[in-house]
Amino acid sequence: MLTGYQEDLAYIHDVGFGDFSSKSAPGLLEILHQKGIKNGLVVDLGCGSGIWAKALTQAGYDVLGIDISDAFIDLAKKKAPKANFQKASFLRVTLPKCDAVTSIGECLNYQFDEHGLIEIQELFARIYTSLKPGGVFIFDIAQPGYIRGMNPQKTYSQGQDWAILLEKTENKITNHLTRQMTIFRKVDNFYRRSEEIHDVQLYKASEIATKLRKIGFKVKIIRGYGNFIFSKAQVGFIATKA
Ligand SMILES: C[S@@+](CC[C@H](N)C(=O)[O-])C[C@H]1O[C@@H](n2cnc3c(N)ncnc32)[C@H](O)[C@@H]1O
Repeated sequence: MLTGYQEDLAYIHDVGFGDFSSKSAPGLLEILHQKGIKNGLVVDLGCGSGIWAKALTQAGYDVLGIDISDAFIDLAKKKAPKANFQKASFLRVTLPKCDAVTSIGECLNYQFDEHGLIEIQELFARIYTSLKPGGVFIFDIAQPGYIRGMNPQKTYSQGQDWAILLEKTENKITNHLTRQMTIFRKVDNFYRRSEEIHDVQLYKASEIATKLRKIGFKVKIIRGYGNFIFSKAQVGFIATKA
């Protein structure tokens, strides 16, 4: 089975949509500093093309980036050569002892590796065990209400050598979001066309916070990383191990 973010979409995400993680990076570093974590190992779940991993290594941290997409892991290794990367599902991987865990850009919502709240809670428990005392888990998710109204939303985005036609559909009963993409990327003198469909399960902030607290985390809900503010349907968490 093909999991999401094949070569062309991974490239486009990096060059066209990388600003979510690059704009988040200063605020994320500030949170780590406020928590007294100024060095040590940060595990980044759903590391994508390694933009945040690069910012972490530049700030003096050791990094293990984990992603399910081969294409993203290839890009990340080039972008952040001082970090380590592993191709795996964060739902199945063994996490090392670390000072912080991050997951930036709605990674936990993706259904490449089908899962629900039970598996999310199991992941939270593994993260809790892997964190040193005082360690922190910082992440964001997408909530229900991603799309206004009931109708599918059609948009397009384009860059110098790429374009994407996107249709988003949200099932307001199951809180399931589907992103159907037709992707064009210029390769030599031609545009290569591919299709990807991403299934995303939307979670409410309250249900995620409850799961984190059950495991023992102290939870703070945030609306952005530092000066970078999320869109309305996104929400972030700073979960601290006592
Ligand atoms: C929207 S991208 C964000 C990438 C990166 N964190 C950033 O901010 O640029 C979501 C990422 O989550 C990864 N992902 C989704 N489900 C995953 C899973 N079960 N295990 C590992 N990575 C996963 C995708 O491959 C993708 O890189």
